Amino acid sequence: MVSEEWGKLAVEEPLSQDAIEKKAHDLLSQMTLKEKINQMAGDLSRILDGIPMLWAYNYRPMTAGENKRLGIPGIRFTDGPRGVVMNHATCFPVSMARGATWDIDLEERIGDAIGVEARSLGANFFGGVCINLLRHPAWGRAQETYGEDPYLLGEMGAALTRGVQRHVMACAKHYALNSIENSRFKVNVKVDERTLREVYLPHFKRCVDEGVASVMSAYNRVNGDWCGQHEYLLRTVLKEEWGFEGFVMSDFVYGVHDTKSSAMNGLDVEMPFAQYYGSKLRRLVEKGVVPGIVVDDAVMRILRQQIRFAQVGDFRRYGPDSVACEAHLSLAREAAQKSMVLLKNDIPVGDEDPLLPLKIPGNGRLALIGRLADQPNTGDKGSSRVRASHVVTPLDGLSAAAHNFVITYDSARSIDHAVETARQAEAVVVVVGYTYEDEGEYFTKPFSPVVGGDRQMLTLRPHDEELIQALAQVNPRIVVVMMGGSAIITESWRKQVPALLMAWYPGTQGGHALADILFGKVNPGGKLPCTFPRSEEQLPFFESDVDEIIYGYYHGYRLLEKSGKTPAFPFGFGLSYTSFNYSNLRLESTEVPVDGMLKVSVDIANTGDVPGEEIVQLYVGSQEMPVDSPLKVLKAFQRLALQPGETRTVEMNVPSRNLAYYDVQQQTWIVAPAVYDLFVGASSAASDLLSSRFYIVS
Ligand code: BGC
Repeated sequence: MVSEEWGKLAVEEPLSQDAIEKKAHDLLSQMTLKEKINQMAGDLSRILDGIPMLWAYNYRPMTAGENKRLGIPGIRFTDGPRGVVMNHATCFPVSMARGATWDIDLEERIGDAIGVEARSLGANFFGGVCINLLRHPAWGRAQETYGEDPYLLGEMGAALTRGVQRHVMACAKHYALNSIENSRFKVNVKVDERTLREVYLPHFKRCVDEGVASVMSAYNRVNGDWCGQHEYLLRTVLKEEWGFEGFVMSDFVYGVHDTKSSAMNGLDVEMPFAQYYGSKLRRLVEKGVVPGIVVDDAVMRILRQQIRFAQVGDFRRYGPDSVACEAHLSLAREAAQKSMVLLKNDIPVGDEDPLLPLKIPGNGRLALIGRLADQPNTGDKGSSRVRASHVVTPLDGLSAAAHNFVITYDSARSIDHAVETARQAEAVVVVVGYTYEDEGEYFTKPFSPVVGGDRQMLTLRPHDEELIQALAQVNPRIVVVMMGGSAIITESWRKQVPALLMAWYPGTQGGHALADILFGKVNPGGKLPCTFPRSEEQLPFFESDVDEIIYGYYHGYRLLEKSGKTPAFPFGFGLSYTSFNYSNLRLESTEVPVDGMLKVSVDIANTGDVPGEEIVQLYVGSQEMPVDSPLKVLKAFQRLALQPGETRTVEMNVPSRNLAYYDVQQQTWIVAPAVYDLFVGASSAASDLLSSRFYIVS
């Protein structure tokens, strides 16, 4: 299918790899040096285009390398990852919420919807595959990524890439070790080679293997060098070792520091305008300081991807009617339903059943309390902000679903007033948590206060904590619904409430999804993509305003398990309105060759009364490795639906190479012959897992 917006790059028939190469070469050979250099930077003129951006950032695509003479449309960027940032697109739940779905197929469908909306709005490039590892929940942009585990991050990022790239190019970001917000423009992250390879890079490699068209370099430094000019990260690892054929673009405005170093070390595109590239780069090429082949290689990478993607897509699906259409809104609702994590569901004092799903008697009263219940709260308002034209708040959603009872809303500005509202109700739902003011991208706009950035606290705001405690005293049927982008510490009040639900930032349809879950139309099935600690002491060292920091090998569940500590809620944890039983863990063979495949199966039964979805997790560890190792690490997972009484056998395979450690001396991956522990079950907690052993044999 010919795509008009791809100009002269469009073709009738799909091109072979060789034909793509040839076409890119032909175009390159027709370019003057100036035209080549123009390919390598954003087209934005600093002042003219920058001013409107302050008010409506990325409302239209941001372009780079448009060349009308040769019919090259250039890169047309839209940001993400919550959806398409341009115009008024579908606002999906944030990535952390989607990480909690552990649903690869769903993430690919979200990618598909994003790709359709991006293209319908004139973009050909989605910059929203954010896969930075969540090392510490205070990270302001935690919500933009999928969690703390490299395997989960890689699988979710790859799924989003697959979906998006049916329509437009995708970009994986921010490469690498970008997980402190307030210091992002200056911090030097020190990391040893094994930690880098095993903890912070595998998910980027996964997306490269998936064919992601582009990678965005991070703002920060790694081991002394800026990521936008990092020879080791960009040239040695990404391009040479991993064979990445796409282009590397800088993070915006502050991502480049030196013309020669960036060009020589593998940064192909400076965004969103030429500060260090443009005429400065041209002069260095003319003087022979930067060889012409460096520029040719960069331009080939940009052209290759554009030619590849000029052949991709389905024209019948693009147009204004596809943006925020019914199908995408219902996908956003499904994602929100699947992402909510039920953390606690006890029987209130004096009752016989767990509090959820709520059963309000006819003409009864449900008190809905908290400022966030009546506020569109879709997350950060920085570069990832999606301007949904309508957001279903918890109040909207619960009101729409309350047919035979009354909802009394109280904003809780006065805790005393809220207590009275709660006292007169059959049950209470209190919505608490964070907004873009507490966490998000950190930057200042002229004349407006600083908002977002790294979280200043990991507990709820004091007012929220006080409110929960006061309400719990007058009404034992209280459900706490938390909103936020990552883990929240709940120690001071958790034991006083019977039910607790993590709703994240649930997107445009979040209020409906919340009602679906609270009233039992949908059974919650999400599981935590990050550990919820008991205290900050359970976390690695984190400092928001810092020039230098060391990232060690351990964080999240790996750190807690190694140090023998128990979190409030473990990685992979989430309850359901039904119960599941795991049995019959079996291995096809307990001896697996170093180049072989571990084959595991397990039976899972829905032993309750309602249909439900379970996320089966497989972890592997070994205490016989030649190097210090975690007790266990996630290696496979699967989400499946089961009817009451139904039993299914789940099969999971893990290639031995995925159990390798990185040998620093030999600079290579090694699958160690040893005895390994296998764990399969409902969460990372030992009590939730069946276990077995197997041997890797040479
Ligand atoms: C962010 C990136 C984003 C870019 C363009 C930067 O400030 O770090 O994630 O893609 O802006 O919007």
